[in-house]
Amino acid sequence: MSGVPESIEAKPPTIIRPGGLLAILGGGQLGRMTAMAARTMGYHVRVMDPEQRCPASHVVDESIVGRWDDVDAARRLATGADAVTLEIEQIGVDALEQVARIAPLRPGVEPIRIIQDKILQKTWLADAGFPVGPFRVVRSDAELQDAVAALGGRVFLKIGRGGYDGRGQARIGLDSAATEESVHAAWQSIGARPAVAEQALDLDFEISVMAARNPSGEVRSYPAARNHHENQILSWSVLPAGIPAELELRAEALAAAIIAKLGIEGLLCVELFVTRQGGLLVNELAPRPHNSYHQSERGCVTSQFEQMVRAVCNLPLGSTELITPAAIVNLLGEVWLNREPDFAAALAVPGVRLHLYEKHAPRAGRKMGHLSATGSTAEEALDRVLEAKRRL
Ligand SMILES: Nc1ncnc2c1ncn2[C@@H]1O[C@H](COP(=O)(O)OP(=O)(O)OP(=O)(O)O)[C@@H](O)[C@H]1O
Ligand SMILES: [Mg+2]
Repeated sequence: MSGVPESIEAKPPTIIRPGGLLAILGGGQLGRMTAMAARTMGYHVRVMDPEQRCPASHVVDESIVGRWDDVDAARRLATGADAVTLEIEQIGVDALEQVARIAPLRPGVEPIRIIQDKILQKTWLADAGFPVGPFRVVRSDAELQDAVAALGGRVFLKIGRGGYDGRGQARIGLDSAATEESVHAAWQSIGARPAVAEQALDLDFEISVMAARNPSGEVRSYPAARNHHENQILSWSVLPAGIPAELELRAEALAAAIIAKLGIEGLLCVELFVTRQGGLLVNELAPRPHNSYHQSERGCVTSQFEQMVRAVCNLPLGSTELITPAAIVNLLGEVWLNREPDFAAALAVPGVRLHLYEKHAPRAGRKMGHLSATGSTAEEALDRVLEAKRRL
């Protein structure tokens, strides 16, 4: 006898059809824009967020209020949903496990558990043989003192859990040489918590690559985006990155390899450093839509948000091809500080579109919205968003 009886053959994962209910852990701007893409395709959407009037609440069928570690709220989110995904990786593992018992959780618990802790994430990347810069895990002031010396005196210190937009970070030895006192002060400033000490790299520029993978195992990478940070917060991003073809291929292949190795069902954004020595190193991973691909809504056949819906629903992934160069610039709370921004002036710039997240209280450093623009070249798209932002 040959062949495998039909009953024990692995069943192909089912497709979640339009009309189904997608649930999202997190209702910030990423959840909001994902929800809009899902609704365009005819899905119903439910989100969970600590804030009742979160950005996604205005565009979804239902919002559940719950903190990131609220197991009960997470259960209510998942009950009746066809699949659950997330827009923020800082969700309690207990809550994730509960969700996964009730509905397909995509990405699954294990990749999120690894990614949500920079210590586990960096260690996983290094152990799996992916290129990362020199780093050390530090759990005490003394270990940090040793690490700073071993890493050459210039260090980015990052807490394991909970950091974002440069929060939970300290820079050591960059403005003046590191001393025992300055290292101690840095350790205190991050709350004396387990952290990753990374060698400060000599960056030429920064790029990111978004990849998607569906439960059937199909994988696609987007063209690389070029990113510019100010005060460790993403300021602008543009597609295409305008990098040599060889580097582009390497970056896209890297993202595809990492998403497959992690077994992620959904999206994975890989933030990358290109060093002045020509090295391509992974900075960090985000298992969700990413700020540096908002311009995919304007520039690509399939936006990152639609791609996320396709991946989570096990639909065929959409083409990631670039239709036109496109750029975004973030609008942080500072823009609102002194007066109402002049949106009409900004929108008079050709190719510019306004994206606001309906956040109610502008605060310094808070992402309130972005401007996007297309152009005939990456430079033109970028010039347009920057000009529009100046006019605000
Ligand atoms: N080892 C390093 N060497 C040089 N620059 C670095 C290093 N680590 C971080 N940076 C700079 O700081 C920025 C933010 O770092 P990182 O991405 O680790 O922080 P984050 O708080 O997790 O940010 P986000 O969540 O917004 O991406 C990087 O994009 C880069 O500009
Ligand atoms: Mg980052």
